[in-house]
Amino acid sequence: MTTLREQISFPALGARLLIVCLWLGAGFAIAYGGSPQSVIEPAGPQSAHINQLWWLMFYVCSGVFIVVIIFTFIALRGRRESSIGDTFPVDFPAPEAERRKRMVVISATAGTVLILFIFLVDSFLVGRGLTAELAAKQGVTIEVTGHQWWWEVRYPNVDASSIFTTANEIHIAVGVPVSFTLKSTDVIHSFWIPNLSGKKDLIPGKISTIWLQADKPGIYRGQCAEYCGHQHAHMALWVIAETQEQFNAWQKTQIQSALSPANASQQRGQQVFLSSACVMCHAINGTPAGSNIGPNLTHLASRNTIAAATLQNDRDHLAQWVSDSQQIKPGNHMPPNVLAPDDLQALLDYLQSLK
Ligand code: CUA
Repeated sequence: MTTLREQISFPALGARLLIVCLWLGAGFAIAYGGSPQSVIEPAGPQSAHINQLWWLMFYVCSGVFIVVIIFTFIALRGRRESSIGDTFPVDFPAPEAERRKRMVVISATAGTVLILFIFLVDSFLVGRGLTAELAAKQGVTIEVTGHQWWWEVRYPNVDASSIFTTANEIHIAVGVPVSFTLKSTDVIHSFWIPNLSGKKDLIPGKISTIWLQADKPGIYRGQCAEYCGHQHAHMALWVIAETQEQFNAWQKTQIQSALSPANASQQRGQQVFLSSACVMCHAINGTPAGSNIGPNLTHLASRNTIAAATLQNDRDHLAQWVSDSQQIKPGNHMPPNVLAPDDLQALLDYLQSLK
């Protein structure tokens, strides 16, 4: 009869563990490399700093892991051999072997301290790069307010007529440093665009700032990174980095008031909007709707997604969302709206005209 120790072959187990780790690592690289939400695909100076620190830690920790596994097997084999024919009283190890073990422990401790010290210095340098580098340059400011469970985005301006508010979609110009002023109206959220920067919490009653810059045009996904309630996972946003000309054109449209209804159906849709529960929470600039409890809808049709990047912004999804958003994001603060089918179609015509 074989003992349990004989049944479990430690080297075979270790080899399998190593293969699993390699697979997980490869899967991680495939899943997160080249995706619109990836810490290892930096698209700006802030994320490049973080990426460098991430890879340093990855390589060093992988090396440490492999060394620890190797020494674990050596130790296990030593124990197994010495346990064969164990007698009592146990033989004391020779002083020479004791001294060798002590040297191994001392070297390992010194190596650990050295590695931690290198990490400390590098993370300090990265932290300084993140806070000081871009702040020293001339940039623009965007205000982001976290709500359960969406992002309010306001573009302040010294010229009051050029201020505008949008939601869940941030446009920035490539090569221009942006300072984000972060606030929250309810609970703690965390602003995180992995391709562009690290995380920063949005804390009720406190204003925090994070700098970032996109070095190449692209569409980058962001995600709330602090558990903030039932729909935390569905609190995403998009950052669209474009050329200065494209940004200026976008900004010019966003500053405008909403387009007036262009036909009878849109006209009716606007009346439905203004006479139903919609108007209690949403603003459409240029109409009497001015509440800022929910997202500003002045240019709703110019956005790619709705419901904080949860759904594509198309007619079917808008209809589902307006009728009963609780089916899609249970617990969100928008109540179901029971509308006559004709009224709903007219409302959708109007909402889809808000370019
Ligand atoms: Cu907001 Cu998690």
